[in-house]
Amino acid sequence: MSTAEASANIALIKYWGKRDARLNLPETGSLSLTLAALRTRTDVTRIDAPSDRFTLDGTCVEGRALERVGRFVDLVRDMAGRSDRVEVTSSNRFPTAAGLASSASAFAALAVASLDAFGVEMSPSEISRLARRGSGSAARSVFGGFCRMHAGVEPDGRDAFAVPFEGAALELVAAVVVAKASKKTTGSTDGMNLTQKTSPYHAAWVTAVSRDLLAAEDALRAGDLMTLADVVEGNCLAMHADAMAARPGILYFKPSTLWAIEAVRGMRKEGTPVFFTIDAGPHVVAFTLPAYLDAVVEQLAGHPEVECVLRSTSGEGAHLVG
Ligand code: DP6
Repeated sequence: MSTAEASANIALIKYWGKRDARLNLPETGSLSLTLAALRTRTDVTRIDAPSDRFTLDGTCVEGRALERVGRFVDLVRDMAGRSDRVEVTSSNRFPTAAGLASSASAFAALAVASLDAFGVEMSPSEISRLARRGSGSAARSVFGGFCRMHAGVEPDGRDAFAVPFEGAALELVAAVVVAKASKKTTGSTDGMNLTQKTSPYHAAWVTAVSRDLLAAEDALRAGDLMTLADVVEGNCLAMHADAMAARPGILYFKPSTLWAIEAVRGMRKEGTPVFFTIDAGPHVVAFTLPAYLDAVVEQLAGHPEVECVLRSTSGEGAHLVG
């Protein structure tokens, strides 16, 4: 049995659109921070059985999710020249009931564990490229800390992988405001595909990302949290504006999302170095400096629709355990 762990990451500058759906190539680059608290552990065992098996948090999974795992492991089977089926057992070390499940930590851990199970050796950038085939954001969870995903230009995707972002002069920690479980929203794959096809704002989004990436990288290197706050919040809201302008519009925000946005902006106005971002769901992630985390967590816990507020430092990249 091969066991790997990976942590989810939260994008400061988002990925929202693909230049090639089959190879899962992103339209733009992105920039993220891997979060220690959002960890997935995955076991992969080669088995003598007619089909793959997948258990997630103790429940046997079938259908589309099992097929997605099987298709991903096929990439590793092809490289190894083997056809053994696998048993994949995965558990998330964070409240998945609240809809915080992450394909980033899932496919980064699955990549590392299945490569080991089939005895295939790869460099970190090759692992990142492989993880991308499972989920675009998973390419970034191969690494710890700040991470920069390159969109690349090659049709075969050989230049579309993540690399660690060196030279950040800020140590960011996060408060993850977990909204109470609500009906399943549009997943990120479907959400970005619909947006790309139907949003009249999508071309403007793509242009904005290149500019935001440069500005965020400069602010990170300069240790300029206030500039980073403007760029990251602007990029997040632009992504959501693009999604909202799809037909039919995709709206990820809940009342607690707007409440947390207001709370974060209110704290910043009063002098607390804090800013927010939001992925394809209702949960707000507030980034701050370590000395302010307690106060930020406390302020963000007070809404009736908030399930809990998780605290996280930056996490390590995907690796084998045990
Ligand atoms: C809003 O990586 O989940 O979190 O490649 O289709 O699996 P697929 O999409 P996924 O999309 C992540 C979208 C996002 C922004 C981000 O993480 O950059």
